[in-house]
Amino acid sequence: MTAVSGRAGRLLATSDLHVAYEENRRLVADLRPGSDEDWLLVAGDVGERVEDIHWALELLAGRFAQVVWAPGNHELWTPTNDPVELRGVQRYDHLVELCRGLGVLTPEDPYPVWDGPGGPVTIAPLFLLYDYTFRPDGTTSRDEALAVARDAGVVCTDEFLLHPDPYPSRDLWSWARIEETERRLALCDPELPTVLINHWPLVREPTRVLRYPEFALWCGSERTADWHVRFRAAAVVYGHLHIPRTTWYDGVRFEEVSIGYPREWKKHNLRRGTLRQILPAPAPAPAPAPAPAPASG
Ligand SMILES: [Fe+2]
Ligand SMILES: [Fe+2]
Repeated sequence: MTAVSGRAGRLLATSDLHVAYEENRRLVADLRPGSDEDWLLVAGDVGERVEDIHWALELLAGRFAQVVWAPGNHELWTPTNDPVELRGVQRYDHLVELCRGLGVLTPEDPYPVWDGPGGPVTIAPLFLLYDYTFRPDGTTSRDEALAVARDAGVVCTDEFLLHPDPYPSRDLWSWARIEETERRLALCDPELPTVLINHWPLVREPTRVLRYPEFALWCGSERTADWHVRFRAAAVVYGHLHIPRTTWYDGVRFEEVSIGYPREWKKHNLRRGTLRQILPAPAPAPAPAPAPAPASG
């Protein structure tokens, strides 16, 4: 069982549950709060089939005081083995309705305020997609960048399964989402910090460690590069990269909270756990003891 024990009322996060994998389903079945007041932020990639997404979110909504969900690319796929054949915006809207039936908050709901330890903080689940602006060096347009990625043998499955309907392209859908979200964030209480939750990282830096750098094309947008500062983020929560870690940009904590595929988490042995504490801000890890100075003559 994975549980976070200790003080009451924590804001916890996870993502990339990928419950189509039986082993991941077992991990999710073991996700439990440490107290009745814990909230859970789910930063996308719960699964692909609507039935699977429903299973996971229903289970979590029954355990945590509040679940907040932001979609990942996998939820937006229209897989051939799903009886729900909706595409694009219609599929997203269908998932939002599913969440509402479960009491799960989505990017379409008013942003709630976390009043527990570490609060008050505005909790903003975002759905921003990507716009192919995290381009390989030397390329200046989407098409040029996609051609370079294709030549390198790197093509995200989204190109085949994530339909942007009724938008003509995923980048145009992304720009519409970014504009609308920017407007909403600007209306938030300026006195409160925020926790921004988006499946894709808001800044490009985390993609610099990808094994296949061309994959960054499907990972975010340059248009959100300063949002963590502009919108007073106490923390930014994301997933998608399947590289769980904590990094800092402009003094803001970014938490990549993914579980990932079994072959991945078996390698890193889930050393960051399956639930990450976002608030109250955890104490920084102690600095490693200095290595003994080499003997010198
Ligand atoms: Fe994922
Ligand atoms: Fe993803």
